[in-house]
Amino acid sequence: MKPTNAVTTLIDWPYPLWIAHRGAGKLAPENTLAAFRLGAEHGYRMFECDAKLSADGVVFLMHDATLERTTSGQGIGGDLAWQALSQLDAGSWHSRTCAGEALPTLEALARFCLANGHHLNIEIKPTPGTEAATGEAVARLAARLWDGAAVPPLLTSFKPDALAAAQQTAPELPRGLLIDSLWDGWFEKALALDSVAVVANYALWDAATVAQVHGAGMRCLSYTVNDDWAAQHLLALGTDGIITDRVDLFSPS
Ligand code: G3P
Ligand code: CA
Repeated sequence: MKPTNAVTTLIDWPYPLWIAHRGAGKLAPENTLAAFRLGAEHGYRMFECDAKLSADGVVFLMHDATLERTTSGQGIGGDLAWQALSQLDAGSWHSRTCAGEALPTLEALARFCLANGHHLNIEIKPTPGTEAATGEAVARLAARLWDGAAVPPLLTSFKPDALAAAQQTAPELPRGLLIDSLWDGWFEKALALDSVAVVANYALWDAATVAQVHGAGMRCLSYTVNDDWAAQHLLALGTDGIITDRVDLFSPS
């Protein structure tokens, strides 16, 4: 996808502008299949999710390292085997109507996306200390699940070591470096990872930073954009993707 010569041409970009964060933002229990279905009902065709590893190597969806906030469990999610994780209630914390909603595997979400022609941004969200193992497992699984698909998932992470493992395992899958600040070396790291995108806290983008990233052929995406003023500003800057919780506010079409 990426030009090999001195890069002044933007890479092809098969993804829609609007991306529903954790499925449907705060309208449904994040990272559950109910959330992705609700995001799709609001017209979204691309979703962001958070993927991590169970103790026995199953890739499942959950944001936090610990279980307390979004499930009925306790402790570090990655310390449990999938059999135990699969029994947890990942919906009651959100609302009574979502009680009993389960933690999904990445494979279950992939089935939903592939069956419906939806695009996916898989954020590799390792339990601390498992960066390389999680990047490798997510990339291997995604390569298998999306084998032959017209559009692969976009793999992103705040953790360069996770992206490096994904690059090593499945170099054909597109990668994006997530940044929450302009730390020393972020741009060089994005290039070294052969990234197709930089996905930044939206407040970091200005004309110069957009020009720098676009000048290297990469796309500029933002998280998590929940008000109209910010969205309009990012569109005026010429950025390429907006991750939002507000699937009820922004119409993706
Ligand atoms: O992938 C963009 C965004 O989800 C990163 O932040 O904390 O919501 O995973 P967080
Ligand atoms: Ca995320």
